[in-house]
Amino acid sequence: MKFETAAVHAGEEPVLSEGGSGDVVIPIHLASTFARRDVAKPTGGYEYSRSGNPTRDALETKLAAIEGAKFGLAFSSGLAAETTVALTLLKKDDHVVAFDDLYGGTRRLFNHVFQENFGIKFSYVDARETENVASALRRNTRFVWLETPTNPLIRLCDIRGIAKVAHEKGIPVIVDNTFASPYFQHPLALGADIVVHSTTKYINGHSDSVGGAVMLSDEALHQRIRYNQNAAGAILSPFDSFLVARGIKTLALRMERHQKNALTLAKYLEGHEKVSAVHYPGLRSHPQYALAKKQMDGFSGMISFEIKGGKPAALKFLRALRLFSLAESLGGVESLIEHPATMTHASVPKKEREKVGVKDSLIRVSAGI
Ligand SMILES: Cc1ncc(COP(=O)(O)O)c(C=O)c1O
Repeated sequence: MKFETAAVHAGEEPVLSEGGSGDVVIPIHLASTFARRDVAKPTGGYEYSRSGNPTRDALETKLAAIEGAKFGLAFSSGLAAETTVALTLLKKDDHVVAFDDLYGGTRRLFNHVFQENFGIKFSYVDARETENVASALRRNTRFVWLETPTNPLIRLCDIRGIAKVAHEKGIPVIVDNTFASPYFQHPLALGADIVVHSTTKYINGHSDSVGGAVMLSDEALHQRIRYNQNAAGAILSPFDSFLVARGIKTLALRMERHQKNALTLAKYLEGHEKVSAVHYPGLRSHPQYALAKKQMDGFSGMISFEIKGGKPAALKFLRALRLFSLAESLGGVESLIEHPATMTHASVPKKEREKVGVKDSLIRVSAGI
């Protein structure tokens, strides 16, 4: 199936056999538990909704299909998905190499939960250069964690190149594909081992559900993550599963329009006298435009830019907006705008933030449809 077809049909084939009602849309199965005829095994295949639920199953099938994976798993947030993957792969004293430009909440999870509580070490590197990742790998490195494009500086890294150097040492590569969406980028086909998403963003696309996803094709690893999905329990609810499955049906259409609008905005901002820098991989001036053309099928809808006049100018600009909501999050049909230094990346200490390049003059835009 092509992407658009899978987005509509995967996981939602109408049941026309006897007893099936033929719904063309997956029903919302709210039951927390499922009756059985005998103690030995569940009669209808389900026992308890944390370990499995028909609506979530349908979504998980769809998630796998759109990411080109064998398996999909749905979680109660993007961070719940990240936590469950990390819990599965890490032990005390292990080491992780991560892109230094990451969603602030991911860094908070790594530094303040996994590092402080469990002694896991994180090396943050500028993964725009594959060599920086290669030289940070250690004997006890358990995975490489990448975002591309990154939040909030819209930087890219070469998934194929990094997977090659990591795999030479038997180290898996995990890509947070939230900013590109499965429509514009296929990390598994480029050599990544696991993809994670905040489905809160483009995948659901309507700013009305918080969720996360993991997609992968390795069966043994899938079994381990699924075990922990149930053991730790951060599953997506049936109602949210329905919403995300519904959102996915229009993902292709939405992404085309997000991209068109983002490119228009980015070009406008690039020519504006009060703007000192625009970060959008669809601009020829983006230092990684060639990589974006090669690695992605499109440039997505996220832009960040720097306004002249520092923080006071940034705050004045944000206060003056009428239509764009000043709000965290992204990827919804409406345009959203935010100030990373005080909002999405406030949990990253100022020194670390500035080292990466997240300045007080930086503004992030999610172009709507
Ligand atoms: C790139 C990226 N990954 C992960 C997350 C976390 O997702 P959630 O907010 O659904 O937990 C976010 C949230 O903004 C994000 O932008």
